[in-house]
Amino acid sequence: MNKSWRTYLLWFAQEHTEFRFAEIKSLLSLLKIEMKFIEEPKDIEPYWIVQFNSESDVKLLASRSVSLRNCLELWAHAKTIPDLHNKLKNYPINSLKPYFQPNKSFKIEVETFCRHFTQKEKVNKLETFDYLPLCGPVNLNNPDITLQYIEYYGTRANDPPELPYDVFFGRWVSSGLRQLIKKLSLKTRKFIGNTSMDAQLSLLMANQAKIKVGDIVLDPFVGSGSLLVAAAQFGGYVLGTDIDYLMLHGRTRPSRIKQKVREQDESIRANMQQYNLGHRYLDVLVNDFSVPFWKDEFKFDAIITDPPYGIREATEKIGTTKQNYKVKEEHLSTHVPAKIDYGISNIYRDLLLFAAKHLKVGGCVVCWFPVFREDYNEKCLPSHPCFTLTGNCEQGLSKVTSRRLLTFEKIREPTAEELQFFESEISDFRERYYIAREETRKDRRMKEAKTRQENREKYEKTNNN
Ligand SMILES: C[S@@+](CC[C@H](N)C(=O)[O-])C[C@H]1O[C@@H](n2cnc3c(N)ncnc32)[C@H](O)[C@@H]1O
Repeated sequence: MNKSWRTYLLWFAQEHTEFRFAEIKSLLSLLKIEMKFIEEPKDIEPYWIVQFNSESDVKLLASRSVSLRNCLELWAHAKTIPDLHNKLKNYPINSLKPYFQPNKSFKIEVETFCRHFTQKEKVNKLETFDYLPLCGPVNLNNPDITLQYIEYYGTRANDPPELPYDVFFGRWVSSGLRQLIKKLSLKTRKFIGNTSMDAQLSLLMANQAKIKVGDIVLDPFVGSGSLLVAAAQFGGYVLGTDIDYLMLHGRTRPSRIKQKVREQDESIRANMQQYNLGHRYLDVLVNDFSVPFWKDEFKFDAIITDPPYGIREATEKIGTTKQNYKVKEEHLSTHVPAKIDYGISNIYRDLLLFAAKHLKVGGCVVCWFPVFREDYNEKCLPSHPCFTLTGNCEQGLSKVTSRRLLTFEKIREPTAEELQFFESEISDFRERYYIAREETRKDRRMKEAKTRQENREKYEKTNNN
């Protein structure tokens, strides 16, 4: 069948820009949409010029994307304003006719990216399009057609050029899901913890995991359940586990500065109800991930998680360093098991082994992985023969550390051997973090001692004189 490709402008938010490509790639695969680049996208630019073969595809993509602000059907794109007008005047008028009808109300918006103009200046810009054969009534609140003129002045807001780098004109088709970020904001969420993931990143993770209506989704390090909120928002039925009984019961110390004690009904379930997602909540259970309790044959559609890095919260599992330790019969009922360190490499190894067993083929594991920037190379990432790494985006945490959002897609079921063990050189961030912190502190102490010594010498010199 012949496909009629049309050109669209996708305009993205300039926030978490590293995640844009991975998000769209996952959504195209989830929604089975074809998209072609007309221009190679550049990381710093907030726009892509692409082609789709149906407008419903563009709308579908926008209905799930968190990175996307707006999509326009692109009628003209140029490097200069006169050239844009020339191109627009030459756009095949037949394809515009449906929009230029007496019964079609319209409005034209003027957007200037990275350079401010007064309302009057914007109106002057708008009037330069008076040759367009628009014959319907103007309607600023709810028009049938919204046209947009965009002047792009680069990304250096403090030092914009006199003239725009790029200018665009097109018909607005759809907006992305940016409003969800506000709706699910942690600021207004009933129950949060110290390491709650913000709404935007949680939604991006759910999109990376290609969650669709009816999926069963697990977060095995669930904490306050932020990732489950995002998964449920996209139709997942959600389950979580965590080693921390107090966290799951909303009994940890409050995370909001002004709050003295937790309210009675703070819980992950209450969060779900807050967003009318109660029907998507299955349960959360106390469980040490190193000893999972799921039936062998139980399968999840997706796993999204943010395991502990051992910096803001401990990486622990149940165990003891004592040899042949046995709890006495009389202590069994009140026994609280001891915990030992759960090294980062073991956490990620367990995560992929667990997913090899419990994830459906085609399902995704989406997780954060902390790295020391200087040491980073792809070889130090977790890997398993049943998974392919389909996404790997960096979010900087400090000058020297970052975390990477990894997406693993399961490509096949494991062999019996692959359920037990696999070779993977996973780097241990925590060890490296503490060594580097000690080095930084040592450096600082030496610098301070040197400054003190220099000051002392200066003081003595002045006094001797
Ligand atoms: C980074 S936090 C997760 C935060 C969560 N994404 C949220 O939005 O609140 C990591 C969680 O892993 C839990 N955890 C640590 N060790 C664990 C273990 N061995 N088994 C299960 N959960 C564990 C911690 O209690 C903590 O809640």
